[in-house]
Amino acid sequence: MSTLTPVLSSPGWELLESLQARQDTTPVSLPELAGALRSSGVPAELAAAVVTQLALRRAARAKFGPIASHMVFTRDGLEQATRLVVAARHAQRFRDAGVRRVADLGCGIGADSVAIAGLGMGVLAVDIDPEAAQAAAANLRDFDDAQVRLGDVMDLDIAELAGDGVDAIFADPARRTGAARGSSRITDPERWSPPLSSALRWAQTISAVGVKVAPGIAYDRIPPTWHAQWVSVGGDLVEASLWSPPLAPEGPGRSCLLLDETGAAHGISSRDGQEANAPAEVVDVVPLGNTIAEPDPAVIRSGMLAQLARLVGAGIVSPSIAYLTGDDLPASPFYDRFEVLEVTNLRAKAISAALRTLNAGSVEIKKRGADIDPDALRKSLKLSGVGQATVIATRVDGRHRAIVCRRLPANL
Ligand SMILES: C[S@@+](CC[C@H](N)C(=O)[O-])C[C@H]1O[C@@H](n2cnc3c(N)ncnc32)[C@H](O)[C@@H]1O
Repeated sequence: MSTLTPVLSSPGWELLESLQARQDTTPVSLPELAGALRSSGVPAELAAAVVTQLALRRAARAKFGPIASHMVFTRDGLEQATRLVVAARHAQRFRDAGVRRVADLGCGIGADSVAIAGLGMGVLAVDIDPEAAQAAAANLRDFDDAQVRLGDVMDLDIAELAGDGVDAIFADPARRTGAARGSSRITDPERWSPPLSSALRWAQTISAVGVKVAPGIAYDRIPPTWHAQWVSVGGDLVEASLWSPPLAPEGPGRSCLLLDETGAAHGISSRDGQEANAPAEVVDVVPLGNTIAEPDPAVIRSGMLAQLARLVGAGIVSPSIAYLTGDDLPASPFYDRFEVLEVTNLRAKAISAALRTLNAGSVEIKKRGADIDPDALRKSLKLSGVGQATVIATRVDGRHRAIVCRRLPANL
């Protein structure tokens, strides 16, 4: 039996809700709560289901904030779910395009569906996994214009969906092997479920299609007239998504979108006329300046490094290595900046000596294009000072080097 079922109907649901309310005000540890439930005569299966949901809701706060306390989850579903701040961006594209009803094909626990429904559009959410479909139905319970269907999206007749009023499709293909097979990433988009080519083909029948994909997707898999966007949240690369022309007001090409916890957004788009599958522009290599900058991963993966370099008057330190450099690079949301203090051999003795003159007691170590183990290097530095420093292990002028630097505040 599903571990969700016991909490989806009475009296399990009421028990979950009352315990959630209590946990929100006077939390107790979940093992303690499980014991108390069992000793008060709650059937073991129900007690386990309730405690599992409370634990998943707690873990889900990182993605959904306080509304996690009103949702239900499966473990896999939570892991794969789009975080709220990003799902809201997906939903905005549909709303801005005047969409009325979205088919969310492979809806999981329904994070994207909830965001779409929350912006007032109808939703048809479909998933092949009975537990995911159950969770999606529970999460969409307050939206009259949302339906959940259990089934294989590959069996759907897309023309029939259009006849039923669906005017846009969102797909977020499963990109991992099942937990039983170690839950590893599937890199080939044709082995995703549904395969990328199937999701792209749906646009021949319903022209407004959005597909969430792995950030590592090769540019040549992207239809040239679509728009591909890489998204990071708080500096972590979380997804790429592909948008057919009706959902891409920015036009064909690629972009990066950087979101932070405060809801601030910053983006860079490719130049007008560039197709989404064009290779990334090459960035000029320049001599190391007094500033080195580590770009956000969404900038790098989207191929927007050349745009960013032009914007701030920077170049890269070495070919194919994504560190920008220049003199007095301005503060920017698109990178972390460091003041270059010294360049040494990439050896512990030389780096220690440089750090000692800085009185550094702790060091963050970054690397690109240099095969070192940061933890092993840190241990061998034997620091005793009080200050902080950064060591960037990379290539400069074709040689492995340690760039000893100081992190610059974001707002200077
Ligand atoms: C990455 S998850 C979707 C997550 C969802 N966007 C969210 O934010 O909650 C992919 C889902 O696709 C479902 N799926 C995979 N192949 C499917 C198929 N052929 N038909 C229907 N659903 C499928 C999986 O069961 C899984 O729940």
